[in-house]
Amino acid sequence: MKFFIDTANIDQIKEAQDLGILDGVTTNPSLMAKEGITGEENIKNHYIKICEIVDGDVSAEVISTDFEGIVKEGEALAELHDQIVVKVPMIKEGVKAIKYFSEKGIRTNCTLVFSVGQALLAAKAGATYVSPFIGRLDDISTDGLNLIEEIRLVYDNYMFETQILAASVRHTMHVIDCAKIGADVMTGPLSSIEGLLKHPLTDSGLEKFLADYNKNN
Ligand code: E4P
Repeated sequence: MKFFIDTANIDQIKEAQDLGILDGVTTNPSLMAKEGITGEENIKNHYIKICEIVDGDVSAEVISTDFEGIVKEGEALAELHDQIVVKVPMIKEGVKAIKYFSEKGIRTNCTLVFSVGQALLAAKAGATYVSPFIGRLDDISTDGLNLIEEIRLVYDNYMFETQILAASVRHTMHVIDCAKIGADVMTGPLSSIEGLLKHPLTDSGLEKFLADYNKNN
């Protein structure tokens, strides 16, 4: 499973990259706003900066909601850097744009997916990634992981190449469960990745090893 970090924060992206296990980055307009990145030029420059830090794919989201606008914006984003993946919302105009982009060889991430039907449409349109938001489903008492399972089943039935990018991952157990189900990618905060490191027996074991070493050296 690929690990993406879901942030526009440069320090956190660098920290995840330094760990050596980062495969890419996802952003969205809220995450960009959180970092105070505003204005077309600043936003584009920020995407380029992120691409220069990481080796993998960087999702950059369009703001337009009409076909022509999505296409224009998406083409401009894709031109910024080879690593850019155009993030398009799961709406009717978005599906048309994903189909257009896939025919032009522009890679896409279909975002705001909350049902298996939406995921099926995204795959049929040729999306590179589909982003089911598991945390936001959990927030409304609906099993987000169950959606990942359903999409996995449907995609495997027809050997769709669209990669399942489990999004809105909130914590480490989401990461582990997504890996068990067979999500292709997960995107979450740095804490969800760093949580995988933690085990009290590792800490106490290391403490003892070092204490024993220091007694005799
Ligand atoms: C996906 O690409 C989104 O940026 C993201 O995962 C949303 O997560 P949230 O529900 O924690 O905002």
